[in-house]
Amino acid sequence: MFDRLKPQPEDKIIKLIGMYAADPRDEKLDLGVGVYKDKTGKTPVMRAVKKAEARLLETQESKSYVGLLGNLDFVGAMRDLVLGDAVDAGRVTGAQTPGGTGAIRQIFELIQMANSDATVWISNPSWPNHEAILKHLGMKIGKYRYFDEETCSVDFDGMLADLNGVAEGDVVLLHGCCHNPTGANITDDQWVKVTDLVLAKGVTPMIDIAYQGFGDGLDADAAGVRHMAGRVPEMLIAASCSKNFGLYRDRVGVALALCSDDTLALTKGALAALNRVNFSFPPDHGATVAAIILGDPELRTEWLEELEEMRLSMLSLRKNLAKALRRETNSDRFDFVEHHRGMFSRLGLTLEQVEKLREDYGIYMVGDSRFNVAGLPEDGLDKLAKAIAAVL
Ligand code: LMR
Repeated sequence: MFDRLKPQPEDKIIKLIGMYAADPRDEKLDLGVGVYKDKTGKTPVMRAVKKAEARLLETQESKSYVGLLGNLDFVGAMRDLVLGDAVDAGRVTGAQTPGGTGAIRQIFELIQMANSDATVWISNPSWPNHEAILKHLGMKIGKYRYFDEETCSVDFDGMLADLNGVAEGDVVLLHGCCHNPTGANITDDQWVKVTDLVLAKGVTPMIDIAYQGFGDGLDADAAGVRHMAGRVPEMLIAASCSKNFGLYRDRVGVALALCSDDTLALTKGALAALNRVNFSFPPDHGATVAAIILGDPELRTEWLEELEEMRLSMLSLRKNLAKALRRETNSDRFDFVEHHRGMFSRLGLTLEQVEKLREDYGIYMVGDSRFNVAGLPEDGLDKLAKAIAAVL
């Protein structure tokens, strides 16, 4: 039977992890996969997470099943974290999922259940797994222009022009903040325009928000999503706690659906059924840790403080890298690095240049020249700037 299997296309981000690990050079630099590292190059367990885990260990009395939708305190807390008071909480249902990817997968399947004809429109470029999962599910994929390779900023005219081609009943997938892979984001005014278009076209927006708190702040990062949620009849949201709680390996995510009164129970039932057929009960530990933090004023404050430290350190790396690149290249070509937000920026280098960075300097980034700012130790900044200037 197994000889009928076909080799699978490699995920370019996952592939880099293996290549980096196999590189014996001491001075190598991992700017590939989106994992936050502190100044010492470590990915810390956040302080509030450690405390919440200790509390959970002390107080947990059973490991029995919780429920198909997972920890409902967690689901509610995540709804509030993403949507604030933009909508009546009674219009939102949701399911805990294994990570943000689990939420994306469940939401795609929900779309398929509701309308197998729908095309899901993703930005070009987008996180590669969006397309991979859609292809795996045999769903229709549309792509809208997003990034202007020349200026390394959002091609908003191109985006609107392409989204004008969507059909009623389609789904438009938007990154809530900190666009992956480009780091270029639409402004609050542009969110208003996209919302106008979504309403005019009768399409359902789907938001992937995996980096809330890594851009301009926890609330500022959700401002566009909240604006849209306040105006549309339906919305789907995949949120992740991998990055902002540092719970990567615990797989903590949530699939949320904003519904009308008469479709809420149906949607809730479908999300529960999808969890059941795919993995039954979602993993509890990390979600309950996040729920403890979000529900406890002291732990929440501690978490917010550390998240803010992480955000500010990424901003300072951006600023200093842009400065170093200005110096090394004697041009303002890379000034966008300072204005992009989140973990990633796409540098606009060719594949050959990216390969040269890897081979000659041990600097690892994705082939499309996406690099992870948060992977950069303070003392790696000049090295990166010099190497980029050298391969240009
Ligand atoms: C990334 O884009 O590097 C992260 O979201 C990790 C992943 O799963 O790809």
